[in-house]
Amino acid sequence: MTQFDPTKPSTTESGAPRQSDAHSLSVGADGPLLLHDVALVEKLARFDRERVPERSPHAKGSGAFGEFEVTQDVSKYTKAKFLQPGAKTNMLARFSTVAGELGSPDTWRDVRGFALKFYTEDGNFDLVGNNTPVFFVRDPMKFPDFIHSQKRTPDSGLRDNTMQWDFWTLSPESSHQVTYLMGDRGLPKTWRHMNGYSSHTYMWVNEAGEKFWVKYHFHTDQGMAFLSNEEAGRLAGEDSDYHRRDLFQAIERGEYPSWTMNVQIMPYEDAKDYRFNPFDLTKVWPHADYPLHEVGRFTLKENPKNHFAQIEQAAFSPANTVPGTGVSPDKMLLARVFSYPDAQRHRIGTNFNQLPVNAPVVPMNSYDKEGNMEYHHSGDAPVYAPNSFGRAYQGDDHQGQVDNGWEADGTLVRSAYTLHSEDDDFGQAHTLVREVFDDAARERLVETVSGSLSTVQEPVLSRAFQYWKNIDQEVGEAIERAVNTPKADSQPGGDPLDAETPAEQA
Ligand code: HEM
Repeated sequence: MTQFDPTKPSTTESGAPRQSDAHSLSVGADGPLLLHDVALVEKLARFDRERVPERSPHAKGSGAFGEFEVTQDVSKYTKAKFLQPGAKTNMLARFSTVAGELGSPDTWRDVRGFALKFYTEDGNFDLVGNNTPVFFVRDPMKFPDFIHSQKRTPDSGLRDNTMQWDFWTLSPESSHQVTYLMGDRGLPKTWRHMNGYSSHTYMWVNEAGEKFWVKYHFHTDQGMAFLSNEEAGRLAGEDSDYHRRDLFQAIERGEYPSWTMNVQIMPYEDAKDYRFNPFDLTKVWPHADYPLHEVGRFTLKENPKNHFAQIEQAAFSPANTVPGTGVSPDKMLLARVFSYPDAQRHRIGTNFNQLPVNAPVVPMNSYDKEGNMEYHHSGDAPVYAPNSFGRAYQGDDHQGQVDNGWEADGTLVRSAYTLHSEDDDFGQAHTLVREVFDDAARERLVETVSGSLSTVQEPVLSRAFQYWKNIDQEVGEAIERAVNTPKADSQPGGDPLDAETPAEQA
């Protein structure tokens, strides 16, 4: 295997000594350059290919390695080995913004990604969540449109509040997540000071084959803290990598951030007639109905040695489940199970799972093969299953029900979920504004939303006022008043720099 040895002078990629790292081969000192200057051609060709496509959403982020330790006994709910009492598992976390590109400021208002990879003895288990417990839409058909509306306009290439609010107000199921986003959670002080959530409902299965629905919560042990709009705006200009720097430097100082993993557990049968659809990603499960159970804690202790190899090329996926866990009928989650590995085959390459950061710590025996950059292979073993020549495969023993499945039967339709008695689009957003936010948080919400709406055009603006009144009449009216009240500097005679004559400037 190729070894990197920093004590040896540089070589070409085929391992021969390079003639120079400083001078191109030319015909005479001032002469033209030569195509057979392998050292130069290889260097430029590789430079031309240094960038891989950035993640389509969640492009800007960073992360660190750590360890997850189970502190409580949840074995009666799951047989997953890494969730058994006392188990310790190495893991990787990556935090990110959603809409911004690779170089965008960390402190622009946005939801933050919270992606975890656990290197378990049954293969990798990933939870790819956010710092909020819900999401903007509940059907994956809308996801690409949602992301398009948050990125840039086709003509100017600018971000555009009208486009964002147009999508949100035409998709009223977004109201709960938009309230989180416009509230304090939209500006976490650092990644260390924010919670993480699976957001989706997942499944746990115990040794006896009993199934439970679960939602994962990761509470920051550093305490939640937020930036004001002013601080975030200033930092976006002064240090666009503020969150990346904070995490890296905290770990360098030996201040290892940690998060406590809790789960809400719903007995399998409850899902059928719970008052909300428990698989609707725009809803939380009230803790009064399903309290938190502590599971364990993860601590980040090790910075990447190489950001590109270990963070940029990291591939997290909700498809990565292990025995004792599973997905749920949440349509968003089911679509994500396809979308992530598909994106990664394109973004990193077909064999992205062979890279050290993505490879499982247990041996792999997959009949998938070849493709760009295959490195690990099955030698001369049979390449098909079933086979008679000694390579193991899964046989007929797995016919029948899967242990982490559910009942599904019916006509094929395109439709919203079947309604449960209290399903609606605005109720939980109202509870968040009225019962979770205090007066000061509501005031900040009004300030942030009205600031964001100040450049929004009709007919979107009027629809946005109504959207907020649907969430909370009082807050909606306050937002409308704030948007319609002229600011001090736009009063007649306001900005002296707009004045045209010396007399007007006086
Ligand atoms: C149908 C819905 C969704 C689709 C199709 C989708 C698709 C994607 C894709 C293609 C990526 C880039 C993956 C890569 O290149 O490695 C991504 C990244 C990400 N998504 Fe989603 N997404 C969806 C919903 C969600 C939801 C609901 C959450 C949170 C609960 C979420 C959290 C994330 C995070 C945290 C990342 C960055 C992962 C990392 O750090 O590498 N996404 N998403």
